[in-house]
Amino acid sequence: MIIRDLSRIKELEGTLRRADRLSMLGTLAAGLAHEIKNPLGGIKGAAQLLAMELREESSMLDYTQIMLKEVERINFIIEELMDLSNPRPPEIGYVELTRVLNDIILLQREAAHGQNIKFLLDLDPSIPPVQGDESLLTRLFLNLIKNAREAIDHEGEVLIETRISSSYHMTSPGRRSSPMVDITISDTGCGINPEELDRIFTPYFTTKVKGNGLGLAISQKIIEDHHGLLKIESSPGEGTTMIVSLPLRR
Ligand SMILES: Nc1ncnc2c1ncn2[C@@H]1O[C@H](COP(=O)(O)OP(=O)(O)OP(=O)(O)O)[C@@H](O)[C@H]1O
Ligand SMILES: [Mg+2]
Repeated sequence: MIIRDLSRIKELEGTLRRADRLSMLGTLAAGLAHEIKNPLGGIKGAAQLLAMELREESSMLDYTQIMLKEVERINFIIEELMDLSNPRPPEIGYVELTRVLNDIILLQREAAHGQNIKFLLDLDPSIPPVQGDESLLTRLFLNLIKNAREAIDHEGEVLIETRISSSYHMTSPGRRSSPMVDITISDTGCGINPEELDRIFTPYFTTKVKGNGLGLAISQKIIEDHHGLLKIESSPGEGTTMIVSLPLRR
């Protein structure tokens, strides 16, 4: 009898399927974003000229302010989209995960002010620095931890753990395989419906009033760029666990 563990292959398949969809959308989105940026610049310039023409006490100045603010917002969304479809190449260095995660938690504790959220950390101090791009990895974990915080209504817990994984990962064929680090982010929040689980990586899919729906799409891209894997376990009403596995060496 032969028993084969297919869970790693299933994870890889999921990652590839999501990456495929993202790259298709990315090409389309990049073209669109580029086309929108030019006329947007025109609108901004015109609004600025208009503001200069108006007298200081004019109530119309409020409208030009709104125009400029909204143009900035569109600009921000477009830049994020362009980032997603054509990101800058990662700048590889040595990243101390413990420090990065501690910094993020410091800010998230502040952001959770008014809610009763416990942030618990269980970080393995013996994990050596990971080869990767520090600002991209910071963005990745910030997105995931922010999602965990936002999934909690009034009170709950966010637990962040790091471990050296027992599995090995081949970053490219013919190379020596690298040990993996598992970074687990679990929350006791609202959880994700099974039918939504596949859509949450689609750019602009959001269930939040103030969400852009880009966090996970960007995170997926960063994980891919680091030859990592993402695994999700979620039960509605109970919470969500996201496990990022990154190879220690590239
Ligand atoms: N930890 C989580 N618990 C429950 N739902 C989640 C969790 N993480 C993601 N989701 C679901 O996936 C959707 C997409 O997440 P994503 O981070 O891409 O966008 P967003 O958080 O809505 O907006 P943005 O990150 O751009 O501010 C969320 O709107 C939410 O429904
Ligand atoms: Mg998010």
